Amino acid sequence: MKSIETISVHAGARIGTAGVVNALELSSAFRYIDEDSQPYPRYFNTPNQDIIVEKICALESAPDGLIFASGMAAITTTLLSLLHRGDHIVFQNALYGGTHSLASIEFEKAGISYTFSPCDARSLIEAIQPNTKAVYIETPSNPLLDTVDLESVAKITGPQRILTIVDNTFATPINQNPVKLGVDVVIHSGTKYLGGHSDLCFGAVVSSAAIVERIRQKAVLFGGSINALSCHTIERSIKTLAIRVQRQSENAIQIAESLDRHPKIERVFYPGLSSHPGHEIARQQMSGFGGMLSFRLASGISPKSFLKRLELIVPAMSLGGVESTATIPAYTSHKAMPESHRVKLGITERLVRLSVGIESSSDLVDDLVRALGD
Ligand SMILES: Cc1ncc(COP(=O)(O)O)c(C=O)c1O
Repeated sequence: MKSIETISVHAGARIGTAGVVNALELSSAFRYIDEDSQPYPRYFNTPNQDIIVEKICALESAPDGLIFASGMAAITTTLLSLLHRGDHIVFQNALYGGTHSLASIEFEKAGISYTFSPCDARSLIEAIQPNTKAVYIETPSNPLLDTVDLESVAKITGPQRILTIVDNTFATPINQNPVKLGVDVVIHSGTKYLGGHSDLCFGAVVSSAAIVERIRQKAVLFGGSINALSCHTIERSIKTLAIRVQRQSENAIQIAESLDRHPKIERVFYPGLSSHPGHEIARQQMSGFGGMLSFRLASGISPKSFLKRLELIVPAMSLGGVESTATIPAYTSHKAMPESHRVKLGITERLVRLSVGIESSSDLVDDLVRALGD
């Protein structure tokens, strides 16, 4: 079994072409060869799409997968393929705002019921009902970095034929492999770490061949497919995924520790800190703690002014890029979440989410400390 760094570089390579880099096939129309194999972008089966699927499957240790034009296309297509009228799903309550909105705006109309559960294995399992078909987890979660013990959930859901679905965007396959912990379906917003340069939008789902086939049938109808040019850029990006994420994880721990000591920071949320409630779980199921952290500014410090004072770290909504970015989730990713729910979770206006890049950690700490007014 090859190491994750080697897989990042080499998985999906097509032997037989002269170049070291796989060929880019821009065609959306392919010469008819035989009836069983007709590549077409919206059928999710073109050569460049296949290369990315192979790469992500190798990274996630999964048999099969699909890539989409966005993370939300992957999430929506997956959930609406695997759930039907009369089914129930358990979501953890601390969740990416778009996924939360998908359930709360669309599921009732589709006849799918759902429960938002506290973000721990026991509560998620307790929320299971007789018609529950899936448990949906994001660990570490956006934006509070809550962690869920995936093995404990999968041990209970597996025998009951309830699917465990994990959004692995924050962790990345470099730091966490849910399939190895018994998880059935893994989803990514590839827009974030897999892309890694803030210039792509895509999503991915990996699972068993049978589950992927169920998703593929709907995907062809929903049409959230991605073009070859993007696939080519994604391939280049993923080659450096391991070294980027390792550096981002190293930087994040140093920044988290510095902020944790700072008098103008009320609390730091980072699973790599021993004070974080999810630290033990993260230590067991992750090989690195990742490049995402959040912190709550002490009262009296305006979060918007703080963002404006940053000189190096870019105020931006997305995450996972080589450049560090910061955002206030209450105004961006979690804006659509009902305020009462958001505040109850701790996603207040003083919460800042930081996506740590690959710059020098000391330059990043200096920037944060200067913006805090020291
Ligand atoms: C954890 C997580 N999942 C899914 C998504 C949605 O991905 P996309 O914006 O690529 O549709 C996001 C976007 O921020 C996210 O943070």
